[in-house]
Amino acid sequence: MNQITTPPRIEIIPASAPFSETQRLWLNGFLVGMLGLDGTTPLSPEQTSAMLGPAAGGDDGEAPWHDQTIPIADRMKLAEGRPLRRRMMAAMAQQDCGQCGYNCNDYSDAIAGKSEARLNLCIPGGKETARMLKSLYEELDKAPAAAPSAAITPAVAVSTTTAEPGRSRDNPIAATFVSRRLLNKQGSEKETWHIDFDLSGCGLDYVVGDSFGIFAKNHLGLVDQIIALLGASHTTEVRGKTLRDVLTEDVSLAPAPDSLFELFSYLTGGAQREKARSLAQGEDPDGDAATLDVMAVLQKFANVHPHPEAFVEALEPLQPRLYSISSSHNATPGKLSLTVDCVRYVVGKRRRLGLASTFLAERINPGDEVKVYVQKAHGFALPPDPKTPIIMIGPGTGIAPFRAFLLDRKATGAQGKNWLFFGHQRSDCDFFYSDELNAMKTSGLLTRLSLAWSRDGTKKFYVQDRMREVGRELWTWLAEGANIYICGDAKRMAKDVERTLVDIVAQFGARSTDEAVSFVGELKKKGRFQQDVY
Ligand SMILES: Cc1cc2nc3c(=O)[nH]c(=O)nc-3n(C[C@H](O)[C@H](O)[C@H](O)COP(=O)(O)OP(=O)(O)OC[C@H]3O[C@@H](n4cnc5c(N)ncnc54)[C@H](O)[C@@H]3O)c2cc1C
Ligand SMILES: NC(=O)c1ccc[n+]([C@@H]2O[C@H](COP(=O)([O-])OP(=O)(O)OC[C@H]3O[C@@H](n4cnc5c(N)ncnc54)[C@H](OP(=O)(O)O)[C@@H]3O)[C@@H](O)[C@H]2O)c1
Repeated sequence: MNQITTPPRIEIIPASAPFSETQRLWLNGFLVGMLGLDGTTPLSPEQTSAMLGPAAGGDDGEAPWHDQTIPIADRMKLAEGRPLRRRMMAAMAQQDCGQCGYNCNDYSDAIAGKSEARLNLCIPGGKETARMLKSLYEELDKAPAAAPSAAITPAVAVSTTTAEPGRSRDNPIAATFVSRRLLNKQGSEKETWHIDFDLSGCGLDYVVGDSFGIFAKNHLGLVDQIIALLGASHTTEVRGKTLRDVLTEDVSLAPAPDSLFELFSYLTGGAQREKARSLAQGEDPDGDAATLDVMAVLQKFANVHPHPEAFVEALEPLQPRLYSISSSHNATPGKLSLTVDCVRYVVGKRRRLGLASTFLAERINPGDEVKVYVQKAHGFALPPDPKTPIIMIGPGTGIAPFRAFLLDRKATGAQGKNWLFFGHQRSDCDFFYSDELNAMKTSGLLTRLSLAWSRDGTKKFYVQDRMREVGRELWTWLAEGANIYICGDAKRMAKDVERTLVDIVAQFGARSTDEAVSFVGELKKKGRFQQDVY
């Protein structure tokens, strides 16, 4: 009798490589065929890596750099030896904020897979991220272009939903600005606006947890000063429009991109040229690099007058800004609200304006149309079971999506308990939506409202301090199956609140710190702990 023997299965691509099982099997087969292997001599890791380039090895699927509080240099260290697309991910700001239109992982995959050519979309990462991506991209071009890049999952395919007008930053739609109302009272150091849009004309809808993308326009005063420094005329034609329109609508006027310094280095000589060159390389010859917006560059190199066309080409496209939606489509169909903190600060003698926040605060009028889109939330939503209790922690503008959650739960008659932690600087002038929240408390919709005022007393008191005071009850809610949410500042607040949560779990859940850390990690994995931070 003939004995049938099954050929040994050849494993060239390790199971930990960043491919799906189907892709891995296909690649194994492809390489076996290509190399004529009989399966008796396994490839060394060096051979595998040589064939597949950096994409194959060194990726255990973990992303230890995925923490927005780690500086870029340390993130890149943590990613050393990893495949290029993973190092590209480490270059991102790690906020998964969606401003680029992806999360950090998908954006880097898209660049590595060459389906995304724009390297400057990570707004929180700013120039540091753009520079790092540029140098990694040069490596990508040098890497052998064979099986691996083709085999990497093509980054996020454009779905039919995102292709619809108003569903992505690449395809905005016009919505009508209705009104604005200042949320702070006299005496406040803050300027935060409640903003209303009417969506009935464009037909957009959204679910609570989503964000709203705004394409703002630059301040005309700034544009005109720049035109004067260029020594040009408003009406000079550039890209088929007037220079004034291009500078107002199409390009970013802050911060100055490296390409602008490069342009200036070609147009000047001597010490000025050296200065411009070193700024283009990310150096800081005069210690002012961080403050150089486009106008400050024109002032710094006052004898250089680039041609308007070359000047515009050296600038970056104007990017949209995202805001957490603070209303519920179920409660007020066709209406959308935002809660926007206004960015204004002074550098030297000049007042600087945040682009989109001041556009919403002062540069649009009721009835004006604005280019917008809804950015779908990924992993930030009300629990599917309306009976699930929720704990919401949102100081400052972090209250925005939680106002939306509460309005939505009211509109849909959701039975789950609701607990809001809100905090801000001062109780008498920074208690946003106080009438609404107090009414929700009286009606029973808001089961608990815990407040923390950081500047009422002599010592700072934050939401996490209030959480500690009520740690036992907070633990009881979690043990009963509550979801917990954080919204607001990514750099310090979100981490501090998470640390406090770990402490509360350890203390009242009778766990060691390590056990509490993994308990909180499990909450995240199960979607019971969600964050919308920026
Ligand atoms: C998912 C998401 C949701 C968000 N939700 C909200 C929200 O609900 N409400 C809200 O207000 N914001 C929210 N933001 C932030 C918002 O998108 C903008 O980043 C913010 O409004 C500032 O944008 P801007 O265009 O006004 O300012 P920009 O023109 O982007 O200027 C901001 C930049 O100015 C510089 N800067 C600011 N202050 C100073 C200072 N004192 N000194 C020196 N430099 C300074 C910093 O470089 C800063 O990055 C959210 C962000 C994301 C990603
Ligand atoms: N991109 C920008 O330029 C820009 C502009 C405005 C705001 N933001 C950011 O947007 C976010 C929201 O700003 P916001 O106006 O809503 O409010 P915010 O500035 O974050 O302040 C809200 C409250 O949080 C307190 N707070 C400060 N540090 C904290 C911490 N580590 N833990 C807990 N609470 C803390 C503040 O107290 P104290 O201030 O008294 O310490 C204040 O009471 C923040 O990230 C802020 O940095 C960014």
